[in-house]
Amino acid sequence: MKITFFSTKPYDKDSFNNANASYNFEFEFFETHLGPHSVEMVKNAAAVCVFVNDNLNRSVLEALAAKNVKIVALRCAGFNNLDMEAAKELGIRVCRVPAYSPQAVAEHALAMIMTLNRKTHKAYNRVREQNFSLQGLLGFDVNGKTVGVIGTGNIGKAFIRIMLGMGCRIVAFDKYPDKALEATGVNYLPLEDVLRQSDIISLHCPLTDDTFHLIKKETIDLMKKGVMIINTGRGKLIDTRAAIDALKTGHIGYLGIDVYEQEEQLFFKDLSADIIQDDVIQRLMSFPNVLVTAHQAFFTKEALEQIVAITCNNIHSLINGKEPEVKGAVLV
Ligand code: NAI
Repeated sequence: MKITFFSTKPYDKDSFNNANASYNFEFEFFETHLGPHSVEMVKNAAAVCVFVNDNLNRSVLEALAAKNVKIVALRCAGFNNLDMEAAKELGIRVCRVPAYSPQAVAEHALAMIMTLNRKTHKAYNRVREQNFSLQGLLGFDVNGKTVGVIGTGNIGKAFIRIMLGMGCRIVAFDKYPDKALEATGVNYLPLEDVLRQSDIISLHCPLTDDTFHLIKKETIDLMKKGVMIINTGRGKLIDTRAAIDALKTGHIGYLGIDVYEQEEQLFFKDLSADIIQDDVIQRLMSFPNVLVTAHQAFFTKEALEQIVAITCNNIHSLINGKEPEVKGAVLV
């Protein structure tokens, strides 16, 4: 059975090829994104395997259905890049990896907080130039601060456990609050109150119509002056232009993003010799209190192993008319 992969990097190929000994699938790997421009590359495949920035809109799904593709396997948790209604109508099964290592993403959020706070990236460069001055490196104790968590699912929970361990007060907003979490000391509040009370806000909800530009001028206005915002969710949770305006006035004191609204054009590529046409990200990266990482929060050895194992099991199960082992893996 042939599976055509899009958006693959050498580490994807190596990991999937290693796992294939137990499945004997035929793999075809493309580096390009899947989208209207590339869907014609799919030939005689029963499944396509895609990642966060592939575009599975109605026209792409129609083209896949016409080519007799039966399965779309997302090798990620989020599925905002796929038209679910169209997949249902076209009879394409869709699966994903609901949770591969929530800790990987939560730990990256912590890394972003600590880098922005204690400026270890600057200290690293400074001492290598024999500059041992502390001027400009002043941080703050995270202990005792109020941390707002938007979205308390798998990753939100892992993040909360870390921040409770650091002695923080946790306020949270979720469409579906988790009673068990309240017992651990988490205080669910309306979104506006979470935004008002937090020193650090971390986004762990999916991108949906409800959460599109959750962070915008009106919601930033509610926040404390000097607030730290961390986004490891999806780029479009933040109105980037509004964030830039608030960085300029100092209302946002620190911004850490692992995801970005226009990341499809940039992330996962080496563009170091190119002229970047996206002026918004260039402006963002000019702030000393902004940290951008290129969608790497998931990128740990353990997470990659889980992604590969669960994706292979999802495809193998669906093709054989069985339910995948992992609960929540099947979307359509
Ligand atoms: P999850 O499904 O376990 O949790 C999401 C939580 O958000 C749920 O508790 C849900 O009730 C809540 N939620 C849904 N709509 C909401 C709304 N309108 N307002 C507030 N809360 C809402 O998902 P998980 O695994 O925790 O992942 C969260 C997101 O993180 C994913 O959707 C994905 O976009 C992103 N992600 C980013 C990665 C990265 O490498 N940067 C890697 C993996 C996921």
